[in-house]
This record gives sequence, C-alpha cells and structure tokens, in this order.
Amino acid sequence: MQADTSAKINLTFDAKNYETMTGTVDNKTITYRAFEYIPYVSNPIDIDQQYLNIYVPEEYFNNGTINGYTTQTAPIFMPNSVGGYMPSQPMVPKAENGKPNSALYALSRGYVVASPATRGRTNKASDGNYIGKAPAVIVDLQAATAYLHANDAAMPGNANRIITNGTSAGGAVSLLQGAAGNNVDFQPYLQALGAATAPTDVYASSAYAPITNLDAADMAYEWSYNGITSFDKVSIGQGELPQANVSGNAAPPKRTTQRVTLNTDDVAYSNLLKEHFPDYVNNLQLRDSIGRVLRLDKNGDGSFKAYVKAFIIDAINKAQANGTDVSKHTYVIRDAKTGAIKDINWEAYNRFVSRSKAPGAFDSRSNDSGENNLFGTSTSDNNHFTITAALHDTTSNQDVYVENAKIVTMMNPMNYLGSPAATNARYYRIRYGTADSNTSMAIPLIVGTRAQNLGYRVDMATPFNVDHSGDYDLEELFNWMDSIVK
Ligand code: DHB
Repeated sequence: MQADTSAKINLTFDAKNYETMTGTVDNKTITYRAFEYIPYVSNPIDIDQQYLNIYVPEEYFNNGTINGYTTQTAPIFMPNSVGGYMPSQPMVPKAENGKPNSALYALSRGYVVASPATRGRTNKASDGNYIGKAPAVIVDLQAATAYLHANDAAMPGNANRIITNGTSAGGAVSLLQGAAGNNVDFQPYLQALGAATAPTDVYASSAYAPITNLDAADMAYEWSYNGITSFDKVSIGQGELPQANVSGNAAPPKRTTQRVTLNTDDVAYSNLLKEHFPDYVNNLQLRDSIGRVLRLDKNGDGSFKAYVKAFIIDAINKAQANGTDVSKHTYVIRDAKTGAIKDINWEAYNRFVSRSKAPGAFDSRSNDSGENNLFGTSTSDNNHFTITAALHDTTSNQDVYVENAKIVTMMNPMNYLGSPAATNARYYRIRYGTADSNTSMAIPLIVGTRAQNLGYRVDMATPFNVDHSGDYDLEELFNWMDSIVK
C-alpha cells in the first residue's frame, strides 16, 4: 500500500482505515490494528519519507485496559529507526528469534505506537537536489509529532504522553525532539511542508548511544582517545557510518574495519581538539547530582573526568554484582585490602575501548564523514560544520563551510535545553555502553547532566561492555516509561 498523492492530503486520522495484525510476546498473542502509510504533512517533499505508521492494541477498541491504561490514557511510544543520519522507514512491530522489537513489545505493555519515516542526508529529488540534509530529520519528526497532537481526540492514546526513542543518530534526534519542542526555529520548515498546526513537544525522551552535540563532539572524542594512534577504523562503505545494532530491527549493515595509523598531522590535530575541550566543558557550568561544579584543567583532568569515571565504575560494580567476571579488565583498580573497585585507569580504559575514528571524528578535515554529509545543502553534498575543521580543511575546495550556521545549532539539543523559547521534555533516559567508541562517553553524559541540572528527571547509565547498540533492555525501558507516566 502506498499513500495516495493524487488527492489533496488531509491530516485527519481515519480510524476506519486499518488492517488487523498479530504478534507474539512471551508466548502471548498480541492483536493490534495497523494504520500505515499516513502522510504527516499536507505538502510533502518526498511522500515515501514523510508518513507514519500507527499501531494500536485491539483491546482499546473494546473498552479494554492493558497494564492499567485505556484508549484515553495509553502513552504514545514514538520510536524512530534513524541510523547514520540516513533516510529512515517506520519501525514495524515484529519479533526476530523470538525477541520482540520495541514496537511490538510496546503494544504488549499497552502503549500506542507511532513511528514515522523521515528524510535523511542522501535523499534526492528527481532534479538531483538533496532534500534530506539537516534539519530535515528533526523537522519531519516534529511534523509527525504535530500530527499526533492535532489528532489527539480522534486517535487512541494520549498525545500529552508521547515518549520518543531511538539509537545512535536516532537517539540524537530523539533527544532533540525532547529538547526543541515548539521552538520557532523549526516553524518556517513545518509551515512549508504543511504540517498540522499543533504543538511539537513530547513528554519524555529515550536515547541509546546518541551521536549528538555534533559541533562539540570532535573535542570530546580527542579528550577520550588522544594518544591512541593505531586503531581499527570502522565503516560500512564510502562516507558511511557504522550503524548501531538494534535488537529485533533489520540486520545492521555489514561493517568493515581497516587498520589505520595516525600521521603527525593527525596527532597534532588531536592535540589541538583535546586542548579546546576543557574550555567547552567549563563554560557549560555543569554540576553533579549534589551540586558540585564539574570542571577540567588545561590537561583535561578534574572533577568532570572523575564524574565520567564514576559512571564507568558504577557500571563495572553492577556487572560484577550480576555475576559478570570483570577480572580480565586490567584498567579496573581495586582496593588492595578489600578488593572493592575504587577507580579505573582512564588511559588504559580508553585504550581498551580504542578509537574507531580519526581526529576530526565528526567534522572530518577531509570533509567526507557522514556528519559532513548531513550538513550539505540542496546542491552541495558535504560541508564542514565547525570553524576548527573548516580552518584545517585538507581538501582543495575553499567553500566547504556550512552555508547556514544556524542549522548546526538546530541539530544540537544543548541549544534548546533550558531555553525559555522551547518546551523541554521533563524526563530523559540515556544509555551509552562502556565499549562504544562511536562518540566520546562525555557527550551523552553532558546532555543528560544539563537536563538534570535544569531539574528534569534523568535516568542515565553506561552499561558495562555494551557496544554501539540499542533497545537491549526493553523491560527496564518500559518500566521507566510506566514510572514517569503513572
Ligand atoms: C551513527 C554512528 C556513528 O558513528 C555516527 O558518527 C553517526 C551515526 C549511527 O549508528 O547512527
């Protein structure tokens, strides 16, 4: 079934247009209604990328309740399947090897599921122009959110309880949905698309391995991985990104690794980026959970580093308490008398994880990363998006700095958290595995800490030895969702 573009697209939810489907969770059959290929804008640029699928447990059409929710009160789970800032299709409820994906599991917990397709950095129109460069993905997610708010009365589920979810680039845009609700920056884009005239804010945001805060991420990466000069560079092809493994989702793209040794230029650039990071962190004036200021000295040492290490130490302790043998990890420092884990060796830990990207991890000096590709324009495929990389560009092309620097700010939740001009979600759940080197662990922790410092409830952890992946703890994820809704 494809959306019909010949008639004028209206944005009214049609409760009669569905197919009944079933799935199995924990040996229980889940029956649900599938409302698929619903355009969420009346003037789409690409109808194949601007529609959403909605799934509703059958019980809600018979005055039933699930998990204490009714058709009126059921929260709306809004997962995206964005990976690598590429075009994405909706998440469809399914199970693989008996394991439900997040959309199917959500139905079993009584949630309404609304999952949008979104444009991405490689989408082209028939004239060859790019149509999915930043900020397209967040504009599309906001347009889909506006659709849900506009149709709240006609649709099952409570649009005041939308909870977003995503992994990696998808985690980043999930956080951005949480931070940037109702901000005027996105209005011209929404209007041009004919989005529903309705709020774009969400109740809560969940993110796994978010590749976010892109314009600060190069500095953070070198704060973590400076000194590592030989490493396995991970990619899935020219200019592509190593996308995350999401349980129950389609098989992740095949990754290739290539042994890379940094040259003296790379090392100098790593040193430069690392040296910039303390100023960035100190200017944020972040605080820990009891109000102590998180800072770094010019060498990159200080309370912020201790704070990041504490998350890792906590993860090791939890893993050990659950029976994981952590003894082979020589970066773990134990108390000689009690054997209690008291610290980690920071350099040894980062050597163990290792880098997977060269310095200029996101804004590559050669202007060829996935993120460079995200900040292209309708006619130029790739651009720099930090001054530092533009100044140190290694290509022969002079004009490679992003055309509209405002767009860079629009992709970063840090610019909306705490802004009186945005409606911030009040609840965040952030996971970043200790074995993931797709960004610096500092990055997701900075975003979560900012939200926490604003008084929002933030559930933040760095699960032990988890690599770049998401949706691996669905029961806990939905327990958290229940706890913030009920
Ligand atoms: C993703 C991974 C990356 O390493 C990156 O830089 C951006 C996105 C991803 O898996 O979505």
